[in-house]
Amino acid sequence: MTPLRKVINKKDSSIKPIWLMRQAGRYLPEFRKIRKQNPNFVKLCLNTNKVKEITLQPIRRYDLDAAIIFSDILMVPFGLGQTVEFKKNFGPYLGSISLRDIKNYDFKLFRKNLEPVYKSINNVKKDKILINKDLIGFVGGPWTILVYMLNKSSPKKKLEKVFSDKMLIKDMLEYINKYLISHIDGQIKSGVNIIQIFDSWAGLVNEKNLNEYIYKPTKKLVKFSKSLKTPCICFPRNIKNYKEYTKIIKPDVISIDYNINPYEIIKNIKIPVQGGMDPRVLLSSKRNLEKSANYYLNAFKNHPYIFNLGHGVLPQTDPSMVEYLIKLVRKFNERPS
Ligand code: CP3
Repeated sequence: MTPLRKVINKKDSSIKPIWLMRQAGRYLPEFRKIRKQNPNFVKLCLNTNKVKEITLQPIRRYDLDAAIIFSDILMVPFGLGQTVEFKKNFGPYLGSISLRDIKNYDFKLFRKNLEPVYKSINNVKKDKILINKDLIGFVGGPWTILVYMLNKSSPKKKLEKVFSDKMLIKDMLEYINKYLISHIDGQIKSGVNIIQIFDSWAGLVNEKNLNEYIYKPTKKLVKFSKSLKTPCICFPRNIKNYKEYTKIIKPDVISIDYNINPYEIIKNIKIPVQGGMDPRVLLSSKRNLEKSANYYLNAFKNHPYIFNLGHGVLPQTDPSMVEYLIKLVRKFNERPS
């Protein structure tokens, strides 16, 4: 059984496996080199050889317990025929799409557009380096995908006027969800054995809309993943009430952001927990890093816990700090009990 599986299935609290959100890409010089030669990011995500290479880059470099397939949450809007571009120093830039476009989109065409992702997973999965490691697939949360599809770029603190049209939001979420389910299905069938839902903009939803915009659609994704015997990790970044979220959505693992007090989580949540440490700590000193990593490891000493960050590894991170972090976690695992 893989280290993550021991934590998720057996609720083992004696080992603390580690992988990092956004471990493949951005901060790694070997990724930057490939990226420079591939100016079209979406095309790069569809290049099965390159995807395999990038997915395994952090695994070759470090002693991590899981790989995450190199792709992007915006591959679903791409699969639905929406233009998706990534502009330097700006981030994602999407074309327009309407409710009718999504409603009328050919389901088979969606799967065909994303076929290279599934082929890559199949390829990666066969590599011997993943023996006793998990391969994580992912989707964006329905709400986060909707935000990108309607807002057409990363949202500022406040949302545009279209977001007050509740009927439109509800309808769109329903259709988007069908495609997210299909994308989860495609990834599981080609070899991923854990799904993570990145709901990066969950924190933008008001309490009164949480049920319709977050809970209802996300619950369906978790249920679907579980129905294929694949555990589901949920990361509802900046959500105010992790306890309520966990109770309603019932993920296998809850991934927490860095604003959350781990001791509060342990008091309120019984399922395995992942993450928490502020990725900015990796930009400071080794001493700080040691303090912060040990804070989380000690807090979750007797709780099933997967070490990770409270958001992705930042692009300006020094890879040697990541190496040091992994060493610290391994050292903690080897401590005498
Ligand atoms: O190890 C991994 O996690 C790699 C796979 C991965 C990427 N994006 C590759 C990527 C994953 C899991 C994602 C998730 C993702 N994508 C999220 C959720 C996590 C989060 O950070 O909140 C979101 C919101 C996106 C959308 C997105 N993609 C944005 C906002 C951007 C631009 C800013 C950024 O984060 O880099 C991207 C581009 C992107 N996705 C890059 C990578 C490696 C950088 C591309 C480049 O080199 O320009």
